[in-house]
Amino acid sequence: MLLENLSYVEVEAYLVEKDTILIPVGSTEQHSPYGLMGTDFITAEAVAREVGKRLDVLVAPTLSYGMSQHHLGFKGTISLSPETTVAVVKDIVNSLLLHGFRRIVFVNGHGGNEEPIKTAFASLKQENKKGIFQVISWFWLPEVQEVERDIFEDKNGYHATPSEVSITKLLRPEAFKTKPAERKRLNNKIQVYFPLSPEEFKQAFPDGRVKSAPWLAKEKYGKLILEEAVRAVSQRVREIMKMKLL
Ligand code: NI
Repeated sequence: MLLENLSYVEVEAYLVEKDTILIPVGSTEQHSPYGLMGTDFITAEAVAREVGKRLDVLVAPTLSYGMSQHHLGFKGTISLSPETTVAVVKDIVNSLLLHGFRRIVFVNGHGGNEEPIKTAFASLKQENKKGIFQVISWFWLPEVQEVERDIFEDKNGYHATPSEVSITKLLRPEAFKTKPAERKRLNNKIQVYFPLSPEEFKQAFPDGRVKSAPWLAKEKYGKLILEEAVRAVSQRVREIMKMKLL
């Protein structure tokens, strides 16, 4: 069920039965020459919408921008500052709380979002807001990482991963007609500290990949990884739906 397709009357009816809502969140940021700018929100949206279908839970419109400052050295990246990200998450949660949602779950596709989302939750709790606020980053779930390791071994890396690129290849095949096919060497030996400025990131990772081999992406792998992500996220959301509200 998509919030964007409901009327307020239908939302009222939903809230009589349930108080859970999923919000897909990602980023608009470079994913190397091999991957799409929208990779993180396209994947998060696909996972969240399928989980919503399976659990009969409402899914809010996707937040397509996130905290991507270190990617700003690459054309096309659009980033929210850490402060804006915290503020946006708080405004979304506060709006939903006003209507009676109490289990508010961000399904996240971008690592850089996790800290500001959790900071927003901590700030809401300091303000004594009632409810369960959670962020689930699908690509960090151990079951998903196991499937990724089985397929890509040590070549998945941390950014522009063949896993996320495989899912987008499955969902947006037409966008890959213009992407390169040649393979590059893995930059596995680089040791860096985070956070990085846009200049530092580009210096460490000149083509935008972080220890990944996105050219290994295939639609069939995307199907397997997406399926596992949906299964694993559904399990977490089911647990959240069973928790007692304090
Ligand atoms: Ni990504």
